[in-house]
Amino acid sequence: MADLYGLAGPVLRLLPPETAHRFAILALRSGLMPAVRTPDDPVLATRVWGLEFANPIGLSAGFDKDAEVGEAMLAAGFGFVEAGTVTPLPQPGNPRPRLFRLTDDRAVINRLGFNGGGLAAFAGRLAARRGRPRPPGPMGANVGRNKDTEDGAADYEIGIETLTPLADYLVINISSPNTPGLRALQSRALFEDLIARSLAARDRAALVTRDKPPLLVKIAPDLDDGERRDIAEICLAAGIDGLIVANTTIDRPESLRSRDRGEIGGLSGAPLFPRVLRCVSDMFTLTGGRIPIIGSGGVGSGEDAYAVIRAGASLVQLYSALVFEGPGLVTRIKSHLARSLREDRYATIADAVGADHQ
Ligand code: FNR
Repeated sequence: MADLYGLAGPVLRLLPPETAHRFAILALRSGLMPAVRTPDDPVLATRVWGLEFANPIGLSAGFDKDAEVGEAMLAAGFGFVEAGTVTPLPQPGNPRPRLFRLTDDRAVINRLGFNGGGLAAFAGRLAARRGRPRPPGPMGANVGRNKDTEDGAADYEIGIETLTPLADYLVINISSPNTPGLRALQSRALFEDLIARSLAARDRAALVTRDKPPLLVKIAPDLDDGERRDIAEICLAAGIDGLIVANTTIDRPESLRSRDRGEIGGLSGAPLFPRVLRCVSDMFTLTGGRIPIIGSGGVGSGEDAYAVIRAGASLVQLYSALVFEGPGLVTRIKSHLARSLREDRYATIADAVGADHQ
């Protein structure tokens, strides 16, 4: 089966990107690509929010929008997976084409627009897993709002209340560029209100279920200094448990060469990395290291993952690099990370978090 994994990347890259993605999901769902997870190097184990991670490398939101293949991706070696973004009602997303591979730039542009089967089906899948053996890593859920909803914050409340008993952690996604008005929720007044309502929704649901998953906020890499300061201040004051830094960018770096670089949407992959590294470092400083950060954006190697951790991330996520490197990438990143930690004489991942700030 290792061969199937090795073949998957090159074969899928021959297909149009959205077809390739659907094909990968179907193959993973059908068990066509079973993986026997080998134990991770113990130096990679970490504990954040009281959750145990066998390794700090997670699958970003957007790959498993409908919570179909979390277990398969954990079996493939990820330390955790994040399903979603899920919206309360099903919606088709934007017209196709809406997903572009920028191969020469090791980048992706997407303007999917929260296509998905909606919250009821998503929650049903998570609920069906209850009673099965615990998967080998935490499974988070990322919530968003429908395109045509009047009160956006209410959509987040519905998602959070429904998923509080079902997810190991929850993420409020206010940073996708493909839903009009969504990113405005990062401005001070709207953000404060949304955070208060979201935390209240989580706490209300937790009263009934007694499960109280950590609530994280996923931010854009395009915020200016003032916006970053506001978000750090509000998250600290309100008691937000974590930050995901960051989502895709609407910026187009000069360096882009691929034909599709002018497509509208969010850019992810290698060109995002320097920006994300700075943003993680800033948010770590602005929060005094008191809010755990998941670093996400352009991570494509063990060196990248280690740099994000040293900049202040407790955990790391990736998606775009999988498109170009295939699933074997996760194993390579983990090996490099374990070697780097030992070379630098860190006993655990946690000891290296924010090391560049000391
Ligand atoms: C995404 N991303 C994303 N993020 C999110 O919070 N909700 C989502 O539904 C999606 N959807 C999505 C689709 C596609 C095709 C891509 C490439 C990305 C953003 C993703 O989770 C991540 O934050 C960025 O892609 C940056 O990481 P990488 O891809 O550079 O490792």
